[in-house]
Amino acid sequence: MTASTYVNDDRQNHLFQVNREVFTSQEILEKEKQEIFSKAWIYVGHESEIPNKGDFQTRDVAGRPVIFNRDRHGEVRVMLNSCLHRGASLCRHSSGNAKIFTCFYHGWAYRNSGELVNVPGNEDYKAEPAKVYEGLKGPAKVESYRGLYFVNFDEDAESLEDYLGEAKYFIDLVADQSPEGIAILEGTHKYSIKANWKLLVENSVDGYHAKSVHHTYFEMMMDLGATPPMLGEEIVNGVAPSGMGTEFPNGHATLMYPANGLPLATESVKETLAGMRRTAEERFGESYATAMFGLSRNSVFFPSFIVIDLSFGLTLRTMYPISPSETIVTGWQIIPKGVDEEFIKYRVDNALTFWGPAGLATPDDVEALEQAQKAFSTQAEIGWSDISKGMGKQMPAANDELQMRAWWREWNKRMTGEALPSEGKSFVPFQKQTTDA
Ligand code: FES
Ligand SMILES: [Fe+2]
Repeated sequence: MTASTYVNDDRQNHLFQVNREVFTSQEILEKEKQEIFSKAWIYVGHESEIPNKGDFQTRDVAGRPVIFNRDRHGEVRVMLNSCLHRGASLCRHSSGNAKIFTCFYHGWAYRNSGELVNVPGNEDYKAEPAKVYEGLKGPAKVESYRGLYFVNFDEDAESLEDYLGEAKYFIDLVADQSPEGIAILEGTHKYSIKANWKLLVENSVDGYHAKSVHHTYFEMMMDLGATPPMLGEEIVNGVAPSGMGTEFPNGHATLMYPANGLPLATESVKETLAGMRRTAEERFGESYATAMFGLSRNSVFFPSFIVIDLSFGLTLRTMYPISPSETIVTGWQIIPKGVDEEFIKYRVDNALTFWGPAGLATPDDVEALEQAQKAFSTQAEIGWSDISKGMGKQMPAANDELQMRAWWREWNKRMTGEALPSEGKSFVPFQKQTTDA
């Protein structure tokens, strides 16, 4: 038996357990900030959110405030949103367009490319601040993949592409949905939950809870004549109705299952989707187009960037800890560029019906996680959570827990240095046949 303080990965008995202390300990959170959020690649935003020179979005990225912007030269930048003078937040708007960021505290002003250009009372300084400090600081690394920007605060981090590795495939399946690319829909779903951030990571790639927690939604789907997820009969691209889980190096993982039914879709929406699929077939071949539009997919990119494509909606989500028992969650909707207003309306309706604050999915998920967090007060008596479902199976299903175990093994490696071997279920199906993207 391999046992560590945090994770019990018992390969002989196909038992995988997580010590509940990891969800409640302040000390562990501090170590996560150090070992995970300061060293792994962290998602910031998509290029479509800052299309024009001067456009900016301010974000909290794993606890660090940043300005994500397009500077006067058209370059995408990520700069820490803290004045070099005495620390005030430089930009206090959530988005906008600015050539200059002027600190409201004492008026130091910076170009949107970062240079410090004005210091009120500059003549009182013997050493000129603009020469001493030059400009706003950024994270050690900023890199993008298919328009998605990530930062890394570790100088020595491997490149983003190497880090994502084969799991990039599940980003491609989103980015390739339109020849014109993808765009984030305006509007953000931002909320906090009273539960540890890792509980929502687990939940975001958990097919096991769907039938129990989301039965109201499933019933609504059935009333509308659609088949709920994982309950269809069709095998799609070799993926059985019960779906499959797959794991990748660095803690990335995906679950997928045949997408059946488009609740509330009008004929025009169905036609738009069919047209997108025909275009993808022409560009990439049938099996890749089927993976794109015929399979629902939930992916986690370690540590907490989630991409969920349920064909009736496509969401990005991040989650960062505020404390061991509080998490800030942000969600965005993606649309393939070039779709009509009716399709956009359909996606927005679904996003609100399913993922929205009063939707049929998110509040139930949040309730489950908050209840778990509350009950972790019993950890002296019940010390471990179980994540063994499907362990030892030839092909884990979407409602097994392989994807969570893969994520936990990476978490454990970063926190303890102990590398637990994968279950060897890395699988990228249905490659593109052409690459004009
Ligand atoms: S803190 Fe920004 S000008 Fe003083
Ligand atoms: Fe859920």
